[in-house]
Amino acid sequence: MPRTLFDLESLTDALKAKRPQVADHSLRVSQYSIGLATQYGLPQEALESVRLGALLHDVGKLLVPVTILMKTGRLSRRQEEELKIHPDLGVELAARAGMRDEVCRIILHHHERYDGLGYPDKKSGSEVHWTARIVAVMNAFDALVHPRGNRRPCSVDEARTRIAQQAGSRFCPWIVGGLLSLPSTLLQLAPQRETPVYVPDGRPDPIATLATQAWDFSSYNAGLEANC
Ligand SMILES: [Fe+2]
Repeated sequence: MPRTLFDLESLTDALKAKRPQVADHSLRVSQYSIGLATQYGLPQEALESVRLGALLHDVGKLLVPVTILMKTGRLSRRQEEELKIHPDLGVELAARAGMRDEVCRIILHHHERYDGLGYPDKKSGSEVHWTARIVAVMNAFDALVHPRGNRRPCSVDEARTRIAQQAGSRFCPWIVGGLLSLPSTLLQLAPQRETPVYVPDGRPDPIATLATQAWDFSSYNAGLEANC
């Protein structure tokens, strides 16, 4: 089947090429989220939304500078603000790729918290669709068991315990209950790639060509620099 100028495959290819750690993390979050969503006996269409939403939840990081994504120390306030717009940027990219509303709202709300202290919309409780609450929990789980930088990885049981401690504050208790009931074997995935290598921003990359043709990254980044 011929590929369109801007579609799911061009987005995931661009992530693999330009943000390989994000791509690997997203694939794991998608697998974890499907494992968890399956426990609730959902129809196939809802499971597919969860799969796609998790796979693309961080696609907006294509438009966040690598220097921010790779920084191991504390981010400046401006860098933090730049990072925190990745859900909005992700929705724009996903909508251009034809993703339906159910997928886009997962992307938009994967950093919302149960207590309303998340971002970008500070929604709380059931204001955040349960599919996004699933991805929020599994996003945090993967960050604990596959950390970046100097932090040591948690075991599956440690990660579950740490997430359970935030049930009712950061995370939805109902979803955390689902995570705690999952068999450990479903939470032990093989790493997709051992040593991902980042491609510097602005470097032409044939794999990412379709996505970059449809989205003018250079003018976007120039706009950000002009605002610094
Ligand atoms: Fe994110």
